[in-house]
Amino acid sequence: MVDSRSHRWPQPLKEQPSRIWYGGDYNPDQWPEEVWDEDVELMGEAGVNVVSVAIFSWSKLQPREGIYDFDWLDRVIDKLGKAGIAVLLASATASPPLWLTQEHPEVLLRNERGDVIWPGARQHWRPTSPIYRDYALQLCRALAEHYKDNPTIVGWHIGNEYGCHNRFDYSDDAMRAFQDWCKQRYQTIDAVNEAWGTAFWSQHLDNFTQILPPRYIGDFNFMNPGKLLDYKRFSSDALKAFYMAERDLIQEITPDLPITTNFMVSSLGSTLDYDDWGREVDFVSNDHYFSPGEQHLDELAYSSALVDGISRKEPWWLMEHSTSAVNWRPINYRKEPGQLVRDSMAHVSFGADAVCYFQWRQSQAGAEKFHSAMLPHAGKDSQVFRDVCELGEDLRLLSEEGLVGTTLAKAPIAIVQDYQSEWATEHTATPSQHVRHWTEPLDWFRALADLGIRADVLPISAAWDTYQAAVLPAVYILDEANSQRVRDYVSGGGKLFVTYYTGISDERDHVWLGGYPGSIRDVVGIRSEEFIPMGSDEGALNYLQLDNGAVAHDMADVITSVAASARVVASFQAPKHTGLNGLPAITVNTFGEGKAAYVACKLGREGLVLSLPELFTEMDLTFEQAGGNGDILRVEREQQETGTKFVFLFNRCDHEIELDLAGEPLVASLAGVDDGHARIDPNGVIVLKDEKEASASL
Ligand code: GLA
Ligand code: GLA
Repeated sequence: MVDSRSHRWPQPLKEQPSRIWYGGDYNPDQWPEEVWDEDVELMGEAGVNVVSVAIFSWSKLQPREGIYDFDWLDRVIDKLGKAGIAVLLASATASPPLWLTQEHPEVLLRNERGDVIWPGARQHWRPTSPIYRDYALQLCRALAEHYKDNPTIVGWHIGNEYGCHNRFDYSDDAMRAFQDWCKQRYQTIDAVNEAWGTAFWSQHLDNFTQILPPRYIGDFNFMNPGKLLDYKRFSSDALKAFYMAERDLIQEITPDLPITTNFMVSSLGSTLDYDDWGREVDFVSNDHYFSPGEQHLDELAYSSALVDGISRKEPWWLMEHSTSAVNWRPINYRKEPGQLVRDSMAHVSFGADAVCYFQWRQSQAGAEKFHSAMLPHAGKDSQVFRDVCELGEDLRLLSEEGLVGTTLAKAPIAIVQDYQSEWATEHTATPSQHVRHWTEPLDWFRALADLGIRADVLPISAAWDTYQAAVLPAVYILDEANSQRVRDYVSGGGKLFVTYYTGISDERDHVWLGGYPGSIRDVVGIRSEEFIPMGSDEGALNYLQLDNGAVAHDMADVITSVAASARVVASFQAPKHTGLNGLPAITVNTFGEGKAAYVACKLGREGLVLSLPELFTEMDLTFEQAGGNGDILRVEREQQETGTKFVFLFNRCDHEIELDLAGEPLVASLAGVDDGHARIDPNGVIVLKDEKEASASL
């Protein structure tokens, strides 16, 4: 077990009760001072009780080298404090001023071809530049010294979305830092050669100075996968070292203020190893932007479940989301009526004790002027602002009812997520670029939800092996230790679902030999000899029919042996010439006290919904099904000592749903309860409190 910092949470301002924090990024430096009073007044109207300030204010805080100007920020913080609005203070280092980059162009990022990433946006700096670090730390020191006794500040917001634009740097600074990182990890150059398999294509390294970042190698060529995987690890670590330098300096000056930095956890991206980073913050905070379309709610729920997993069920902070449209997609869909409240409630249901937005007031100019905000261009007479006020009211009520500090109830099944597996499977020299780690977990989450079963999502280092059932969805990398955990879990009675593309390689991306899944063949009781990638090329195999009615796409395994302890639950039906007819598609093995199912193909959400009920029976698994038909996403937060529960019911459908419900809801948005009968519209949500209501028949 790796040490984590203990959980610390920003405390309410003096004489204020503990509440769900509510607010957003506040950028007063974009506006004339006359606007600030109106800002503070409208924040009061909306129930805002916290804002993050100065995230991109470096050039205003330090207009020239050696000259600091905190007066304007003092005035803003003073106004906020007087209105009872707390402040998360930024370290303001995300976007450097032009005088700095002009004086020191050597802090600018380089892309893989060596091109300079010029100023013009933000985050164009090298995480490994000693010069940049010096300047950034000077600013942190000045800010921390100036604000150390300011009672309005309740915590620190360090940096901003590290790695969003500067994840990979290929400069000489980065090269030297990567060489040092390799020395630390491997000690000897022989160990690097071994790890990266440099015997292949004559890549032998004589010494550490020969280690280059994975710079441009021409088109249609393939970078050494071991090195590329290490570069992703290194890049996450390099940014982390930068963050930790800021954190440690600030902490020395303001030891009582909790510190965080906003992550970008979602089902789509994996910029940093957020599980690893989660150990270095006092409280986890996350930015989440909705996926437009039919997976909106499910993707959000999945992402929040993963944040809860990273936070190890401690309360976490939703640092940013949007009231409506973003402006960085090709098409920026607005939120439908009700989604503003519903989305926030969904984050809260999964353990967020803070609900914040980018940003308070929509910008009039600049690159994000069409990004929605709490106070839109249209002003306070707008649906968005009315919804923001309604949400503020709902959050206040939930706080008064005691929601703060309750935690997400443990689900009956854990889905395992692994950043290393995602990084390795992103490589372009793999069986199929349509298959990577990320392609599986969300399908499982959604399929289980369709069956009325809510899943927790846990990073591989977390305690997924304490659940009665767990899923390893395309967890491509299993090192020795995790393979042993899998073995212990199942032999000790665990019910494990393993899919194709799991346990393929070790942590160096060396393939486990002897047949797939090499490191846990004994546990699953099958052996696969080859992959069956499927595609849409004319005449190529583009799907595989299973005899249980499900259809597999993209990937399957050629299973040629099945242990005596294993049972084939479903098989492929395919034309004879493919050599696949009758091969096992789903198996269940008895291993020690437990059982391991192997799903040898990509079934997708539909195929899983079709196949899982029979598998549950085969594995002697029963789930207390809350929603029954999956129309409802039911999430519970609980206070274990008192037994108090908060039950959140979300409509997952595009039509109205009805259910029997005892008791009065605390929150009903696009929903109503009448005489024990409830109606929830699409995008609607109901929140109920306590034991009796929690057990309402659904
Ligand atoms: C070419 C190269 C080989 C190998 C194969 C793989 O033929 O000469 O070294 O890379 O492609 O298809
Ligand atoms: C990110 C950034 C914010 C803003 C939003 C817009 O989350 O942290 O500064 O750019 O995106 O969606």
